[in-house]
This record gives sequence, structure tokens and C-alpha cells, in this order.
Amino acid sequence: MSNIDNANRTEIERRIDILEDDIADINPALLNILLQDKTTKKNILWCTKDYEAYGPEYDEHEQIKANLITKEFYNVIQPRAAKAKDIQERRIKNRAEVFTPSWICNVQNNQVDEAWFGKSNVFNTPQGTGWKVNKRIIKFPKNKDWSSYVDSKRLEITCGEAPYLVSRYDTTTGMLIPVFERIGLFDRKMRVVNENCKDDESWLVWSLRAVKSIYGYEFQGDSILIARENFLYDYIDYYKERFKSEPPIKLLKSVANIIAWNIWQMDGLKYVVPYSCHPIKEDYQMSLFDIGKEAEDHFLPCPGCEKNNIYLHNGIYCRIFDWTNLNKSIPFLDVFKEDAHNG
Ligand SMILES: C[S@@+](CC[C@H](N)C(=O)[O-])C[C@H]1O[C@@H](n2cnc3c(N)ncnc32)[C@H](O)[C@@H]1O
Repeated sequence: MSNIDNANRTEIERRIDILEDDIADINPALLNILLQDKTTKKNILWCTKDYEAYGPEYDEHEQIKANLITKEFYNVIQPRAAKAKDIQERRIKNRAEVFTPSWICNVQNNQVDEAWFGKSNVFNTPQGTGWKVNKRIIKFPKNKDWSSYVDSKRLEITCGEAPYLVSRYDTTTGMLIPVFERIGLFDRKMRVVNENCKDDESWLVWSLRAVKSIYGYEFQGDSILIARENFLYDYIDYYKERFKSEPPIKLLKSVANIIAWNIWQMDGLKYVVPYSCHPIKEDYQMSLFDIGKEAEDHFLPCPGCEKNNIYLHNGIYCRIFDWTNLNKSIPFLDVFKEDAHNG
């Protein structure tokens, strides 16, 4: 850990809060990658008023910059479980921020797998508010194989700290979950990679394909950063289990780059970058009745916002990366259109 005074941190913080300084200490470029917004080619925005007391650079419309969350500001961003109660309550009120306990994520992720495998409880068996890991190697249905499972795409909408995708800790209690007991959609793919990739080279290839198959979006910038950090640290945990060493920086930068694409900041009601819709200046012809009045600018609202029509926004439509077919970025709206078209 960096030269931070650990004594002033609560027990939950020490357990689950990834310090931005720790990431910057591994390599400063890594934190900057995790802060990127791939659509705007700038940084993600704060998109919450929670930090505005720190100064104008923490305004909800401003970008999150590394210098605002490291060194003396190391403790500014914390996971929800470590946030003060009054802040938690404000976030519930403003953005319906209530996180799902891991055991519920597990039950629902089991249902996703049940649909894919055609049988229940493939990875574990739920038990009350916990689960028992099935120790036997995962078997695949006749018409499918392990590689198609790793490649199948998964999306957590309004992902918060992404508890359905990676489960390093229970987002509601802050309890750490041991690597091979994790229940996230990415964790399940990594189990399959571990069980099927015998040599290191194929493990590296397929672990990256697993990362590429996992998507999530969220409005609030701090949650986006935490989700991305959780994802990166989850990957590091699997790498360390496999190789008994720290992952090379070049690999971590590749992983961080994929994560910065796949966990993105978006207003999920509009499919655009938050706050990017804007009023448009109206071409206003003065009439007889306006004679003698001072010329005034007239503005019309964004047509998409006014008509509540997802296709008409004048903001910046978010782009996601298609890693498998097109190998290029596409507007998320196109994926939505395709899904709507296919019913
Ligand atoms: C009920 S929480 C769920 C978070 C996470 N999926 C979980 O289950 O723990 C809802 C999340 O939706 C996010 N949210 C609210 N309005 C949103 C919007 N317009 N677009 C995207 N995310 C939004 C909030 O910031 C919050 O993280």
C-alpha cells in the first residue's frame, strides 16, 4: 500500500476500498485508463453532487481527474458499504442507489446460467443467504462448449459497483468473498477458463476473452470507477492464483483498456453521455408584434428529452466496442435497435 495513514480508515474501508493511490502505485497510467470515457475521449464525469464540497473541480458536471482522488485526496472515493449513512441515504433518494446483496445476485446469475446450460445450479447451490460451491468440473451441454460459454456476452444495466459481474466483496455488508467462491458473471467465466485452459498461453488468451464478454453501464462516476477497479482487481486475483506472481503491467493496461470500454458511463434513460443533451438556439423570425422589443435568443429543448424519444436526443450517444465480430466501436443505441427489431 502507498504511504497513506491506514490507521484513520475504518475496518470496512481497509478490507474492500481499493485506493486509487494503490492503482497509481502499480502504474500511474493504469488509473488514467480506468478514468477514461471512450465515447468522449475525455474522462468520466462525477455525475453526483456528493463531492462538490471539495471545490469547483468536483462539480457534478466536471471530469474525474487522477489528481482529485489521489495523494491527500486518497479517501475521497469509497465503496457504498464504507460510505457514511447520511451519504448512503442521499444517494438512495437521488439515484435509487440500493445495492443487491451477493446471495441475491447469485440466485439471479444462477437463473441466467440455467437458461444457458438447460439445468439448474451449475456453479453452486444456494443455501439461505449463502451458497455451496459445486466442486466438480463444469460439464457442458451437447450442442455447446466451454469456449462459447466464455464468449457469451453479459450486461449488467445500471451496474453500480457491478455486484452481478464481479463479487470480490458483498456490496451490502463489505465482507470479502474468497476467489473460488465468487459468484459474479465474470467469476463464473474465469472458473471455466481455469478448468479448461491447461497451458499458460491459452489461459491468457481466454481470460482476456472473458473480460471482453462482460459489459455494464452506470450514471454516477464514482460507482463507475469502483466497478472498473473491482473488475481489474478481480482479474488480478485470478492471475495471481494461476501464476503465483504479479501480472505484468503491459497485460494490466490491456485489461484496463477493455474494462474502460465495457464498463461505461451512460444515462440509461437516454443512451447518451450524462448531461450531454442541450437546448438548441431557435431560428426565430421577428414578427410585427416584436417591433420595438429587444432581440432575444430563443431556445428549444432537446427533442428527445422533450418527446421522451430515445432516438431523438441531441446529446452524445454512447459507444461500446464489439470485440468479437466487427472489432470496432458502435453506438449502444444500435444494439438496442437490433434487440428491439429481433423482439
Ligand atoms: C438499485 S441500484 C442497483 C445497482 C447494482 N446493479 C446492484 O444491483 O447492486 C441502481 C443504480 O442505478 C443507477 N442509476 C440511476 N439512474 C440511472 C440512469 N438514468 N442511468 C444509469 N444508471 C442510473 C444508480 O446510480 C444506481 O447505481
